[in-house]
Amino acid sequence: MGFKSIAIDGPAGAGKSTLARQVAAALGYLYVDTGAIYRTLGLAALRRGVDPQDGAAVVALLEDCAIDLRHGGDGMQRMYLNGEDVSQAIRLPEVSRYASGVSAIPEVRAHLMDMQRDLARRNDVVMDGRDIGTVVLPAADVKVFLTASPEERARRRWEELQQRGTPEAYEEVLKDLVERDAKDSGRAAAPLRRAEDAVEVDTTGCSLEESLERLLSVIRAGVLA
Ligand code: DC
Repeated sequence: MGFKSIAIDGPAGAGKSTLARQVAAALGYLYVDTGAIYRTLGLAALRRGVDPQDGAAVVALLEDCAIDLRHGGDGMQRMYLNGEDVSQAIRLPEVSRYASGVSAIPEVRAHLMDMQRDLARRNDVVMDGRDIGTVVLPAADVKVFLTASPEERARRRWEELQQRGTPEAYEEVLKDLVERDAKDSGRAAAPLRRAEDAVEVDTTGCSLEESLERLLSVIRAGVLA
């Protein structure tokens, strides 16, 4: 009967994408990173010099650009902006700020919703984001709210940026993260919040392996229930 869906929401740097990808691989589900969709629009705004807070300008931009999400044979999600593969470019720190800005605009969220729901309609999915359990897939089979302390999340993001060859000072990363949390949770349109029926998993002090094990046991119990 139908396809299964797992919603994983939480603040920036909680480990959602790394863990969600591994969970998807373990279950044989498709991994969908919804933040990458907002990041692609954020990148378009950055490149075109559009103010991410200017709703009318961002909506005009959205209507004028082609955002595509495709999964390769390896199961990896790739993002395309007007046909160009921007999967790497959207990871730059300045794109995070633009993505957070454009994602607060209700018309943007409504416009990008179909793409997300359509994937869940056609596949078993593990989908991560901010509003998956609350808005995009309210009937998801399992909902997880993944968190960790701001300091730990900043440290993980800092390490990731270093490994990617785009290092930033730890204080800068922490400041950005706290600001982005406040923006993502404080906005009127689909704010980041835990769905009432979501299981909260706090990974502060947990290794990646421990976090994955906890997540998988919560999810397996929920899928089989
Ligand atoms: O998960 P991420 O850091 O790649 O997300 C980038 C931004 O996109 C984040 O600041 C908030 C926004 N976002 C959102 O509003 N809703 C989602 N489902 C996913 C991301």
